[in-house]
Amino acid sequence: MIYKLFKTLAFQLNPEFAHVATVKGLGLLPSVFSIYGNFESSPKYQIETNIGVIPFPLGIAAGLDKNAEMVDYFGRLGVGGLEVGTVTPKSQPGNEKPRLFRLPKEHSLRNYMGFNGEGAGQVLSNISISNDYPMKLGINFGKNKVTPNNQAIEDYLYLFDYFASVGDYYVVNVSSPNTPGLRDLQDKAFLIELSKELESKEIQTPTYLKISPDMGVEQIREISEIIKDSIFSGIIATNTSSMPELGIGGVSGQLIREKSRKIRELTLSILSEQSDKEVIGVGGVDSIKDLWEFWQHGGKYMQIYTSFIYRGPKIFSSFAQKFDFLCEYFGTDTVEELIRLARYEKVNLPENLI
Ligand SMILES: Cc1cc2nc3c(=O)[nH]c(=O)nc-3n(C[C@H](O)[C@H](O)[C@H](O)COP(=O)(O)O)c2cc1C
Repeated sequence: MIYKLFKTLAFQLNPEFAHVATVKGLGLLPSVFSIYGNFESSPKYQIETNIGVIPFPLGIAAGLDKNAEMVDYFGRLGVGGLEVGTVTPKSQPGNEKPRLFRLPKEHSLRNYMGFNGEGAGQVLSNISISNDYPMKLGINFGKNKVTPNNQAIEDYLYLFDYFASVGDYYVVNVSSPNTPGLRDLQDKAFLIELSKELESKEIQTPTYLKISPDMGVEQIREISEIIKDSIFSGIIATNTSSMPELGIGGVSGQLIREKSRKIRELTLSILSEQSDKEVIGVGGVDSIKDLWEFWQHGGKYMQIYTSFIYRGPKIFSSFAQKFDFLCEYFGTDTVEELIRLARYEKVNLPENLI
C-alpha cells in the first residue's frame, strides 16, 4: 500500500530524478526506510555459494546503487547481496539525458546511462563509512569511456588493486550496451589475458564475469569454456539487452526475461559440467517461478533490478513468505533443501505458486 502510493507519485516524475531522489533519501535515512519491507532474517534462508554463505537467495543487481550510497539501507532490509557500481577508475558524467525510460505496461525499463558515477575514490569512501552486514557486497568494475579498448585492461587491473580486500566479490563488466565498444571485450583474447593477470596478482576475492544477453550460442559457449578454465568464480547472466526497435540503450525487466533465462540455462549447463564455477542469475527475475527454474538448472543466487522498481522493497519479504510456504509444503527446514529438491529430484512448484 505504502509503496503503491510512493510509486504513483514517483512515476509522475522524470525517471532519473525519481531515482536520484530515492537514492539520496534511502542513503540518508536507512533505518527509517528499511522498516518498510523488512522481514525476519533466518538461517533457513541461507545458501552456500562460491562467495560464501549468502543470507538470502535474492539480492540487488548492479546499477541501482552505483556509488555505494545505500549499503546501510539494503543491509538493514535483509537482502542477500548488493552489487554496487558499475565503478570506473575516474568519475564520469555518463551519457546525455534523458537516459532512463519506463515501459510500465511491460514492467520493463530502458536505460542509456553510460556508467555515470563518482569514481573509485568516492565509492571506496562510501563503503568505508557503511556498516557490515550479513549480505554480500559485490563491486562491479567498468572502464572509463575515454579509455580505449586496447588499454581497458589497465582500468580493470587498477580497480582490482584499488578495492583489494574490500567487498565480498568482484564483477568484471564487459557487457553494458551503453559504453561504446565495451561489449567487444567479451572476446577470447581479452578474457584470457585478464584472467592471467588476475592469477599473477593472486586475487583471492571471488570474481565473476557479467555477460550480455545479445550474444550468439557459439560465443556464449566459448566464454563459458574460458571461464571454466580461469581464475573467475563464474558468470553473471545477464546484463540489459539492446533492442533498437525500442530506442537506444539497454532494456531490462519482463521484456528480457526469456532471453536471459535461456542464456542462464546455457551457461549453467556448461559450467556445471565438472567444474566448481557458478552462475549468478539476473534479467527479468520477478517471481518464485524464476528462482525455482534457475535452481532446477543448477543455479542458486539471483539478483533483481527492474522488479524492485515496479514492486518495491516488499518483493523480498514476499519471496521470504514463499520460501516459508514451500518449506512447510515439502516438509523441509531450509532453502538449501528446497534447492536440492528442485535440482536433483526435479520436483515442480505447487500449482498455486506457478
Ligand atoms: C537503470 C539501470 C542501470 C544499470 N546499470 C548497470 C551498471 O552500471 N552495471 C551493470 O553491470 N549493470 C547495470 N544494469 C543492469 C542490471 O544490473 C541487470 O543486469 C539488468 O537490469 C537485468 O536485470 P533486471 O531485469 O532485473 O533489471 C543497469 C540496469 C538498469 C535498469
